Order: sequence, then structure tokens, then C-alpha cells
Amino acid sequence: MLRTNKINTTSFFNRGGGELVEGQESFVIGLSPMDGITDEAFRLVQTKISKPDLIFTEFVSAEGISRGGIKLYDTILFSQEERPIIGQLFGKDPDSFYKSAIILCELGFDGVDINMGCPAKTVTQHGSGAALIANPKLALQIIESTKKGIEDWYTGKTKISDLGLNKKTLDVIKRNQKYSKIISNKNVSLSSRGDVDLSTEGFRPTLSVKTRLGTTESIVDTWIPILLDQDLDFLTIHGRTLKQAYAEIANWEEIKKVVSLAKNTKTKIFGNGDIQNSQQGIEYCQKYGVDGVLIGRAATGNPWCFNNHIATPSEKFSAMLLHSQIFQEVFPHRQFDSLRKHFLLYTKNLSNAKSLRMKLIRLNSVKELLSLEDEFQS
Ligand SMILES: Cc1cc2nc3c(=O)[nH]c(=O)nc-3n(C[C@H](O)[C@H](O)[C@H](O)COP(=O)(O)O)c2cc1C
Repeated sequence: MLRTNKINTTSFFNRGGGELVEGQESFVIGLSPMDGITDEAFRLVQTKISKPDLIFTEFVSAEGISRGGIKLYDTILFSQEERPIIGQLFGKDPDSFYKSAIILCELGFDGVDINMGCPAKTVTQHGSGAALIANPKLALQIIESTKKGIEDWYTGKTKISDLGLNKKTLDVIKRNQKYSKIISNKNVSLSSRGDVDLSTEGFRPTLSVKTRLGTTESIVDTWIPILLDQDLDFLTIHGRTLKQAYAEIANWEEIKKVVSLAKNTKTKIFGNGDIQNSQQGIEYCQKYGVDGVLIGRAATGNPWCFNNHIATPSEKFSAMLLHSQIFQEVFPHRQFDSLRKHFLLYTKNLSNAKSLRMKLIRLNSVKELLSLEDEFQS
């Protein structure tokens, strides 16, 4: 099923992602960013099995990518087939957001998202992520800098070569562009390369924020208008507070309040929290008035949640195999055992899950995975 979307103000939806149908109500059902989960291998498997309308990378440190954190560039590798794809940044230094926004634009992302929702202590103790909800002054500076970065890249006022990045960083940016088939050289014919030429597309990446209801309680009435004043293209609201982290159920009544606060603004609202599949996502869009939803945890080990298919054990096995093959191709230097967490998630609801898990946590190679094929036939 090709879902359409009703958002026509946000140009990235017209660049190969959703297809617009006049008069038809439909919604954006996207993949939520998940650190340590939604890497390139995960996103490609997701895209091949059931493509979300919108995809986010896992978050990446703005300070890190703008100050030479070469390894971090692995987390923001993407392929053309994932579009529209948003790169998500976290951090607390506005100048790093300015530079990182330019870097993400240069890498060909369809949009730049700012994380103002992560509850992890390692992030909030430095004043980043959801801690920004308690520091609106800094949150606004970060949005301003990111917006300016996108604008200056778009108008050509600031080029990647103006950022004072070291050679290693410039080289890894080139590597990512090559992987993503992005070119920024006007003299190379777009059609002959089949690549995306940033210099001729005239495409302005979107600016968005993903946040929570508040820190200890919902303060949407004061927090959300501050964000809406910034002319964001869209805003994702996770229906929990920082204090709740992932506990209890997401409060969709508060998300509904955010929708009414955004009425008469250009900002589209995406709701997030506890959505299990795209069917439920569409129901929640209708019930709570959001323009779309993001699905996170329900997609782990279940890429079919975007087409509402209940996978058979053998389909699960094929997906695991695909996941490990892509993983090895994209990240040949990474340990195979980092796939185990994904494998465990694929066993959810299988009758022999317990015995399978005992074997999956010891897997070290695709060959060993293949030896378990028969156990996924029952
Ligand atoms: C393992 C994990 C990692 C996450 N990493 C991020 C992240 O990098 N950026 C972000 O904005 N949210 C992150 N989140 C939050 C999710 O995007 C989402 O907001 C949350 O899980 C609620 O949605 P869900 O109920 O559909 O999972 C993460 C969640 C989990 C479980």
C-alpha cells in the first residue's frame, strides 16, 4: 500500500518519499530515531521490508561531528532509498549546531532535527537532550543557529570549506557522500551519475525538533509555544516527561493539546509514544489530530509494523539474515555480536523463543545464523 500524506508545505515529501493526492486525507507514519538501533543496516532492512514515510537517523553529537569525531559519521550513513531521511543532532553548543547543520545539509539529508527529548543521564547531565526543556533560552539559541546553518548552506553564504574542519573530517564527509551517492560538483551531470546533485536541486532541508511534554510534569502550554514561534517545519512530541523516561503510558491527551496550540502555525505536529503499527498510527492521527506519528520500539525486531503484516517465523529468519548481510557490508569493521540485540527482538512471539534466544546470544557469524534456519520453520 502506498500511503500518501497530507503535508504539502514541507517540500521533502515531494522529493521521492510520499506522494501527494489532492483531497485525500492521509498521514505520515515515520520511523523514530533510536540511538544504538536505527543505524544504516537497520534502516535499510526497514526500508526494504516496509518503507516508513519518513526516517530518522539515531542522534549524533553536534559537538562531535563538527569537532572531528570521525567514527560518529558511521551513524549518519544513509542510502537514497531511505528518503526522506532526517539527521538528528543533540548537544548544547549553538556554534556546533550551526556547523553540524551545514554538514548534514552537505551530506544530503532532507532535514535536520534537534533532540530536545533524550532522558539519558549521560546526555541530560551536560544540559543536552530533554534538559533543554528547562533551559528555553539555550534551546532557542540552538534552534536559531541550526536554522542559520541550513539557510547559509542553502544560499551558498557558507560552504563546508569555510567551517575550518580538519582534513580527516572533510575526508569522512566525502566518504559519506560517496556512500550516499551525493555530489556537490555542478559540472558532473546528474543524469549520467544517477546521483543526487545538491547544487542543482534547489532543495532546502527542513528544520524540526523532537521533544517531550516537560521535565517533571507536562508544561506544553508554556514550552510548546516557545518552539512554535521558531517556524519549525515540524515538531515531534513524545507524550512523556523527562522524569518518566519510558515508564507508564504515553499521554496522548497532552499531545492533542499540542495540536491545538499549533493550529494557525506552519508547524506540522507528529505524535509519538507506544504506537504499535501503522494502522494504530493512522487511528491516532484521526483521533488526536496529529499530522503524523513516529514509531520507535515497535519497529525493533518487527519491520512489518509499517505494513501491519504479521510475519511468519521464516520471514523473521529471512529478515535477520538480510540484516546481518547488510550489517557486514556496511560495517565490515564492526563486531558481529552487536547484532545479537536485534536477533533477540526478532524472536518476540515465537513459540520456541526461549530456546532460540539461548542460541542467538552466542552467534558470531552469518554461517552460525544459517545453521538455525530449521528452527524458524515451526
Ligand atoms: C533504545 C532507544 C534509543 C533511543 N534513541 C533516541 C534518539 O537517538 N533520539 C530521539 O529523539 N529519541 C530516541 N529514543 C526515543 C524514541 O525515538 C521514541 O521517542 C520513544 O521510544 C517513544 O516511542 P515508542 O513508544 O514508539 O518507542 C530512543 C528510544 C529507545 C528505546
